[in-house]
Amino acid sequence: MEVIESISEMKNLVKEWKRRGLSLGFVPTMGYLHEGHFALVRRAKELSDRVVVSIFVNPIQFAPGEDYQRYPRDLERDKALLEKEGVDVLFSPKVEEMYPPGFQTYVEVKELSLGLCGRYRAGHFVGVATVVLKLFNIVQPDIAVFGEKDYQQLKVIQRMVQDLNLDVKIIPHPIVREEDGLAMSSRNTYLSPEERKSAIALYKALNLAEELVNQGERRVNLLKEKLKEFIESFPYTKVQYIEFVHPETLKEVERVDEPTLLALAVFVGKARLIDNKIIIPKS
Ligand code: PAF
Repeated sequence: MEVIESISEMKNLVKEWKRRGLSLGFVPTMGYLHEGHFALVRRAKELSDRVVVSIFVNPIQFAPGEDYQRYPRDLERDKALLEKEGVDVLFSPKVEEMYPPGFQTYVEVKELSLGLCGRYRAGHFVGVATVVLKLFNIVQPDIAVFGEKDYQQLKVIQRMVQDLNLDVKIIPHPIVREEDGLAMSSRNTYLSPEERKSAIALYKALNLAEELVNQGERRVNLLKEKLKEFIESFPYTKVQYIEFVHPETLKEVERVDEPTLLALAVFVGKARLIDNKIIIPKS
């Protein structure tokens, strides 16, 4: 596996691959890789001749006071794991390479960025859309694989690709879970053993919601109340939001009469965890 830090070197290699008619799959990440990432890498490998994984902890998608400084990093470990997965190139640019002095161009996907995490993480999706567009321009992939755990991010990227006529096909990948149901995330490493036990509250709440809906409770305000009470019965938990939204527009709904995305953000100790599920009411 080749490790490339320089944008121009990455672009030259991509040119060479394109010249040879090879198809290119891409998995953008912020590193500290886990099985969730490897599932995306395997999907990219199935669909393309060459696979590039990027590792870049993108400073502009963290709001002031968030975990940019303490975000877990271990490039040597990640390198070894990606090598094992048969990745062709690890692209890991430095912050100064991606955002040199004078940088001032940002991408905003307006409406889809407003609700859910966007309400609590100022500038987050501008940071995500901007870095992903830059990475797409550098790597020029035919396909890029994104996990559904960051559901709003996936929708923002799909919209950007459509709106800006980008030549990349976005491949969504289902959430990868630990054995007990906790969605895999690099931020799970923040959890103490006691908090880890409580972190299962998110997955359990998604299943409880589905059960309640199928027992006939369709009113979102009541579902939210029950879910908040349920989640906060686990120690160290504090709900940031529980939202029921249309799976495409991400607009809030009042009743779960159609397939609806239930999205959760919950603090477990200092770790802010998110999870989601599309709830399809049985009629
Ligand atoms: O999902 C992530 O890890 C990041 O938001 C992404 C897509 C790599 C952009 O920095």
